[in-house]
Amino acid sequence: MSVEFLVDGQKLVGETNELLIDILLRRDAKVACVCYHEQLGPLETCDTCLVEINGELARACSTRVTSGMIVQTKTPRADAAQREAFDRLLKNHMLYCTVCDNNNGNCTMHNATKMLEVEHQKYPFKPKPYEVDKSNPFYQYDPSQCVLCARCVEACQNVEVNETLSINWDDPNPRVLWDGGKPIGESSCVSCGHCVTVCPCNALMEKSMLGKAGYMSGLPQEVLTPMIDIVKGIEPDTGYGSILKVSEAEAAMRESRTKKTKTVCTYCGVGCSFEIWTRGRHILKVKPLDGPANGISTCIKGKFGWDYVNSKERLTSPLIRKNGEFQKASWDEALDLIAQRFTEIKKTHGPDALAFISSSKCTNEESYLMQKLARGVIGTNNMDNCSRYCQAPATSGLFRTVGYGGDSGSIKDIENAGLVLIIGSNTAESHPVLASRVKSAHKLRGQKLVVADLRKHEMAERADLFFSPKPGSDLVWLCAVTKYILDNGLEKKEFLAQWVDGLDEFKKSLDPFTLEFAAEKTGLTVELLKQVAHMIVEASGVCILWAMGITQHSMGSDSSTAISNLLLVTGNYMRTGTGAYPLRGHNNVQGASDNGAMPINLPGYQPVKDPQVRAKFEAAWGVTLPTSKGLDNHEMIDAIHEGKLKCMYLFGEEIALVDSNANVVQDALSKLDFFVVQDIFFSKTCQYADVVLPASPSLEKEGTFTNTERRIQRLYQAMEPLEDSKPDWIIIRDIANRLGADWHYSHPSEICAETASLTPMFAGVTYERLEGFKSLQWPVAADGTDQPLLYTKQFELPGHNGKALLYPLKYSVPTDPPDAEFDLQLNNGRMLEHFHEGNMTYKSAGIREKVPDTFVEISPDLAQERGVQSGTWVQLVSRYGKVRVRALVTDRVRGKELYMPMNSSAHAINLLTSSHTDETTHTPAYKETSVRMVVLEEVGENPLPKVNSRYHHPTPQMGVQVERKWKRIDYAMPKGEPVPNGAPVHAEPKH
Ligand code: SF4
Ligand code: SF4
Ligand code: SF4
Ligand code: FES
Repeated sequence: MSVEFLVDGQKLVGETNELLIDILLRRDAKVACVCYHEQLGPLETCDTCLVEINGELARACSTRVTSGMIVQTKTPRADAAQREAFDRLLKNHMLYCTVCDNNNGNCTMHNATKMLEVEHQKYPFKPKPYEVDKSNPFYQYDPSQCVLCARCVEACQNVEVNETLSINWDDPNPRVLWDGGKPIGESSCVSCGHCVTVCPCNALMEKSMLGKAGYMSGLPQEVLTPMIDIVKGIEPDTGYGSILKVSEAEAAMRESRTKKTKTVCTYCGVGCSFEIWTRGRHILKVKPLDGPANGISTCIKGKFGWDYVNSKERLTSPLIRKNGEFQKASWDEALDLIAQRFTEIKKTHGPDALAFISSSKCTNEESYLMQKLARGVIGTNNMDNCSRYCQAPATSGLFRTVGYGGDSGSIKDIENAGLVLIIGSNTAESHPVLASRVKSAHKLRGQKLVVADLRKHEMAERADLFFSPKPGSDLVWLCAVTKYILDNGLEKKEFLAQWVDGLDEFKKSLDPFTLEFAAEKTGLTVELLKQVAHMIVEASGVCILWAMGITQHSMGSDSSTAISNLLLVTGNYMRTGTGAYPLRGHNNVQGASDNGAMPINLPGYQPVKDPQVRAKFEAAWGVTLPTSKGLDNHEMIDAIHEGKLKCMYLFGEEIALVDSNANVVQDALSKLDFFVVQDIFFSKTCQYADVVLPASPSLEKEGTFTNTERRIQRLYQAMEPLEDSKPDWIIIRDIANRLGADWHYSHPSEICAETASLTPMFAGVTYERLEGFKSLQWPVAADGTDQPLLYTKQFELPGHNGKALLYPLKYSVPTDPPDAEFDLQLNNGRMLEHFHEGNMTYKSAGIREKVPDTFVEISPDLAQERGVQSGTWVQLVSRYGKVRVRALVTDRVRGKELYMPMNSSAHAINLLTSSHTDETTHTPAYKETSVRMVVLEEVGENPLPKVNSRYHHPTPQMGVQVERKWKRIDYAMPKGEPVPNGAPVHAEPKH
């Protein structure tokens, strides 16, 4: 409903409950509002937004507009109150803008000083009696510059919900505290950077900015300090006006050399977008603004994990293996050799002797070109990407039941759920920003959280209900809970009648899944299973989030299907706050498959076997397309061993370490007649190559990524490709042209346009519609209408007239179970700080400081039984290989279950995993691995240093607790008694 009110005599219309401050900011009102940040909401800590409302002073940031309200922003009383409030802030902050790294035109303190035309501060600056804290590798806190606005506290407590920060409002000298008063580097801080991002001044600064952003900020301290003193010295005579003019000129000069580029995070599937500020190749900082998936949020990797771009280890020129040694080569030499060998092998052994693997880290356009090269130029469907290793079973479960192979909705829809059920996902570490939205909804809005996982990770700790089924038994409890709901008439009958096929057959398939059977197979109690069922049916809406703990099993497709079945039976589709969310791992794992980098589908999941689909692509590409079934990447390894596959071209994929049973995979790679690997580093996989091509990471190219919400976002080029490296799409284009393709793409937008013209679900995707921070969530109609929430009108299952299908399932047991010889269950997954095998994140010194190596987590019980302590070297031996690794004793794991993070090349988890797969998708059963543990004599250092956040204890509180400030004896709200804005009044406030 809209309301009318007066602001400074002008009649305005706003929405009921709109914050007055938002209206004033839209009107560019000259009100400072230092502590207000749109994405944090009202904090009420600074008082600089005081205005007269119906004749009384009140804070605009916490006032909601009402009909007939009379607002006056610049009466003498309001003006005096605002100035008094701002003067109090200046007591806490020294203005040395010209030599400050935060003088970039967007410093709130600087801008407020200018807007209020402050010439002299009323209260002299008073440094706080604390040292600058530099103990975090990525950012620092300068208490003496801190204006105690508490934006950082709100961001940490309620947005990121890491709950590290607070302010000791009751102390004579308040400051921001980490874990109640620890050095930052020895606190629970996860280096997500939220606090630094929202700080209105230079109190919290990225270390990468220091001495680098300004023209003079890099001067040595012994020069800088006297300069600051000189500036402060002339302030009483000249006033701030002239001093600010100098700093503004300096800020304007910075504009010419500071490049601000919108990009999308290159790590996980959340798809955080932000500006990246660079000066030449130096990365000054990552600045989130209002990303459609992330708002102001980031995690340690997206905010601080970019050192790899300038790593000395980058590949910078093509390499050709000659006499067993890699030698630098020119691009012409490398591309000629590739064209020659591809042609020879195709001629001798046929097109299906070649295979192509695309990268889930590279762009949509690059995946599109790779599959076009495989199909249209070489003539094979041997084309895949690493979604085979993680996401394919989830996609399969959704294809079977509801139609689209993607998340049902957006992160917003997850926030709106009454209950979130997380299964087999360490969300707080694998998808940190998405997890923070769940943590926030749970903390602030009463969302229920249920977690099923082998490990007691952060989400498990926070859950209302946490349980650990036996490894590989999720299918059983999911089916049993669904059966219990149906048996007891708790299903959503109308929803099922209107929207779902196959109920009778499905019900029959559930017969074996009694609660008692489930209790036996899962180790859970019947009571707990009933509790889960009742929590689900009683919730206003349920979103189920799952990841590799479900999919990387021999029954990964079936367990994913069971999740979707459960959602259908309980009516949890077709509206916000409901649905299936298989959290996509890599930044563009969704997009790689969407764009046809798979053996059975052309872009947009159009089946290769459909003659009409083929005819459309053949006409557009001017080629004849292969009809034979292509190999997926699991089958490719077998085909190499069988001597059928001779040649492979792979980019941006560390197959030698991330595919399961790495010994077998590496053996296969060594048997290839010709192997081309394109990467940014000389990876383990490169060791098996004949030609290595130097590629460019995301910051050096343009394109689009698609996140877990099916959200397509553009990335722009922040810097030139390093030395002789090139964007992948250019390399693929050039190889195709060497093979006679005659492709003329000069920019990824042309590739995007071609994809859209051939792919109904991308029909309306254009670079113009994706400009800047704009995004589209597929399917996108030709007129640009996208679908943030799927299935609002119908399901998309072919042949079911808009209905979904309950898909019958059978009981199955995990492969590779423990026995007398291999008595321990080994699980594996990601860590917050590293991404996947760590090829990129290990290049960051700060991340290495937090997590220098991998380890194996061992439960306290098992550690005691085997005489192991944190740091003890053990050898893990599986039926397929062995690794030597240090132990970390932790209660995150229980009994005889072990856990190894996957971030290591030296001690790679996949030297232990098997070649068993999910039957439907050939996704390796990574999570079904048994080992024995040999305890070695050697005891090393604890593999996880004490500076890691895991060891430390946050201080949760609701918000910033400004009431404690208001209760201070020396605080009173500014009364708005006019003071001349002129001569300095060097006195403390008297209230
Ligand atoms: S976790 Fe650390 S970096 Fe993140 S907001 Fe809290 S204090 Fe800042
Ligand atoms: S450190 Fe925190 S409280 Fe201090 S100025 Fe920055 S955001 Fe405000
Ligand atoms: S790794 Fe994921 S959560 Fe972290 S900043 Fe990147 S996209 Fe966001
Ligand atoms: S903006 Fe209202 S109190 Fe700070």
